[in-house]
Amino acid sequence: DDIRKLIVGNWKMHGLKSALDEVDRLAELCSRGEPKADILICPPATLLSEMAGPCRDAGFFVGGQTCHHRLKGAYTGEISAEMLKDAGATHVILGHSERRLYNGETNEQVKAKAEAALSVGLIPIICIGETRTERDSGQAVAVVSQFLAGSIPDEIDDFIISYEPLWAIGTGLVPTPGEIAEIHMAIRQRVGGDIPILYGGSVKPDNAGRILSIANVNGALVGGASLKADDFYGIIKSA
Ligand code: G3H
Repeated sequence: DDIRKLIVGNWKMHGLKSALDEVDRLAELCSRGEPKADILICPPATLLSEMAGPCRDAGFFVGGQTCHHRLKGAYTGEISAEMLKDAGATHVILGHSERRLYNGETNEQVKAKAEAALSVGLIPIICIGETRTERDSGQAVAVVSQFLAGSIPDEIDDFIISYEPLWAIGTGLVPTPGEIAEIHMAIRQRVGGDIPILYGGSVKPDNAGRILSIANVNGALVGGASLKADDFYGIIKSA
């Protein structure tokens, strides 16, 4: 398909100010040739403002890892979509399985967060995926379809889906190309032709080329291998 590939680095709860060196290093690596993919880095919120300038100069986007569903108010500890946007973000990851698991985020909340993001002009990256048990019992497509139905706001056309099988996150395990193709096709049929669909879960420099060449895989959501510029560039190069 014609969708430009998007490689997303989700730093999760990693990164002090010293991590800005990785941005400089990545910029240097990418300046050697025109990257064929768009690059988005989602650092901890504390680094967002400081990273926005250097990233913009290097042609990278920056984004948040979550946001609140309200735009402001008495919600101690929370960050609004507008604050992310104000800090320089263009995108926000929503409903990551770690948020669903450790913070109890539901489809309804993810949908409300996506609406908040869209209302300020941030592009939501909505994460969905099945557990190992669900896959083993043949329910992967059904589970992913349920997430899609529940988490995507009605009447929106500017969003990104990231398929992340929970059992592949941080484990070194990756579904077969056929398994990824099946899920991405099911998502494509549901969301239409223009929506980027990313794959996430143990994407590394040595498997990225294979994963990114699967039909309807329009990019990757990368955790561990996005923390070091050289590893992340290894993935970007494969796009
Ligand atoms: O957001 C990224 C995913 O959770 C994948 O993480 O690349 O460390 O497996 P990982």
